[in-house]
Amino acid sequence: VKTAHLPAPPLPRGRPNLVVTGFMGTGKTSGGRYASRLLGLPFVDLDGVIAARAGTPVADIFATRGEAAFRDMERQAVADAARVSGAVVATGGGAVLDAGGFARLAEGAAVAVLTCDPEEILGRVGDRGGRPLLDEDPAASVRALLAERLAAYERAGPALDTTGLDVAGVGAALAARYRAVADHTATVRVTVDGPAGAYPVVVGEALAVAGTEVRGALPGAHMALVLVDRSVDESLGERVAASLASEDLLVERFPLPPGEAAKSIDVASHLWTTFVALGVDRTSVVVGVGGGACLDVAGFVAATFARGIPLVNVPTTLLAMADASLGGKTAIDHGGSKNSVGAFHHPSLVLADPSALDSVPVRDLRAGLAEIVKMAATASPLVLDMLEEAPLDDRGLPSDLGWLVEQAVRMKASYVAEDPGDLGLRHTLNLGHTVAHGIEASTDHAVSHGEAVAIGLVAESRYGESLGVTPAGTAARLEALLRRVGLPVDAPPGLDTADVLARMGSDKKRRGGRAVVVVPAPGGAEMIEDADVDAVLSFLRMGVAT
Ligand SMILES: NC(=O)c1ccc[n+]([C@@H]2O[C@H](COP(=O)([O-])OP(=O)(O)OC[C@H]3O[C@@H](n4cnc5c(N)ncnc54)[C@H](O)[C@@H]3O)[C@@H](O)[C@H]2O)c1
Repeated sequence: VKTAHLPAPPLPRGRPNLVVTGFMGTGKTSGGRYASRLLGLPFVDLDGVIAARAGTPVADIFATRGEAAFRDMERQAVADAARVSGAVVATGGGAVLDAGGFARLAEGAAVAVLTCDPEEILGRVGDRGGRPLLDEDPAASVRALLAERLAAYERAGPALDTTGLDVAGVGAALAARYRAVADHTATVRVTVDGPAGAYPVVVGEALAVAGTEVRGALPGAHMALVLVDRSVDESLGERVAASLASEDLLVERFPLPPGEAAKSIDVASHLWTTFVALGVDRTSVVVGVGGGACLDVAGFVAATFARGIPLVNVPTTLLAMADASLGGKTAIDHGGSKNSVGAFHHPSLVLADPSALDSVPVRDLRAGLAEIVKMAATASPLVLDMLEEAPLDDRGLPSDLGWLVEQAVRMKASYVAEDPGDLGLRHTLNLGHTVAHGIEASTDHAVSHGEAVAIGLVAESRYGESLGVTPAGTAARLEALLRRVGLPVDAPPGLDTADVLARMGSDKKRRGGRAVVVVPAPGGAEMIEDADVDAVLSFLRMGVAT
């Protein structure tokens, strides 16, 4: 098969991490976890990640595969940790031995190298507690290891002496260290390097400051045209409009039909007509407030009216925050075909406030999660490890959606910056979508886009594994994770695969049964340029009617 590697691009900055390292028994894991609760940031223990990835405890990895194999896995985990933001990361005690890898993790982070009096360490780890590097004489091995690693710890970052501190004391000291370098409560600004200049995506408490943010991004604007999904007009639309008005912007509000119904030429035409009557010009700004559908039509109208006027996106669904609000693609549906008419038009500003998600139906939130899992599978694997362990709320969804939005925005922004015209690397984002489009169309959208992406992601990953491109076990892991957050991974019972095949897009017809399929691969994705679609579909598992 003909393939092309699509490497994961460098990610723009998010909030700093708090990186906790140091010798065994100094309280990295317990203190780090405590600090994460104080800071309201997610916690990840890299030894735990390595054990989960290997499916066996760290001590077993040392015993059966040897220290070198463990260090390789650790190097990968540290590199993956350097791609997340706004998290408390505890490393294993030996992670500092790879100075280069650790330095990349520490860059821009608050770092604490925990130290402790050797006697106290012995008291804490005296029974060895599954620690593979301690032999029959723990006291001697602790002293020898400490001496051996002293230089590496000193090089790794500033020390934090935990002698005499309990877990709460270590946690508080760590949290204080983080607060000294980062405003953890704050809203984070992620920069998107668009083709016509950089613009910020503000993730956090952004609704309250919509007016000042828009004023700051577009100092010359005099009129704000708020195009808002009708279902959120009274709540979010009004709030955004009031904030804009407080900055002396003349506000006109246009409630649009909810969801996909807004993406029509009739809606666009009505807006154009009204804009003419209002004397809208390039000193006006279109402010889209809604899900991906509302932002798509708002962007399309902004792109086309007066050959393009400024656009600000205020996404109100998880999918829109993670994906549709940035990247410049705008479209309406026409001639029975989705997104068939559109233009590239980047916003000047995106305001993603996770509090807007409170009213979003669970099924729509899951759709957003499917796209986030898809991006993480190629751009930030540690997000998947963290999602596997993330606490779930009473709806069965990860409780910290704001953190996920931050990660997703950084991932999406990285592809947009590298490939603004969607000509190569950005195709990575089509992972799962070849199968998904077929399923959506064949079920007449009874299976939603997000659900179809989840099913497609698993089927296409299985296909990648069959080619030896996707690491073995990837599909099973994605399947378990998607199930965990309530997404389907099997095709609905009775799905007609011949019909799915027929609807999988024109690629197939053009290329005689072959199509372009993206599959996960180490370090990013692999584009299979002449995939046999029958083979891909053979990996679709049918659900059982209940
Ligand atoms: N431009 C892009 O890059 C891009 C990327 C991905 C998807 N899209 C487009 O996005 C659309 C899907 O986006 P979506 O999933 O956000 O769907 P959507 O915009 O249709 O919104 C889903 C539903 O949620 C409602 N809703 C929106 N915000 C809400 C809130 N805060 N509380 C309660 N209900 C709310 C909507 O009225 C709608 O019924 C599709 O049209 C797709 O083509 C565009």
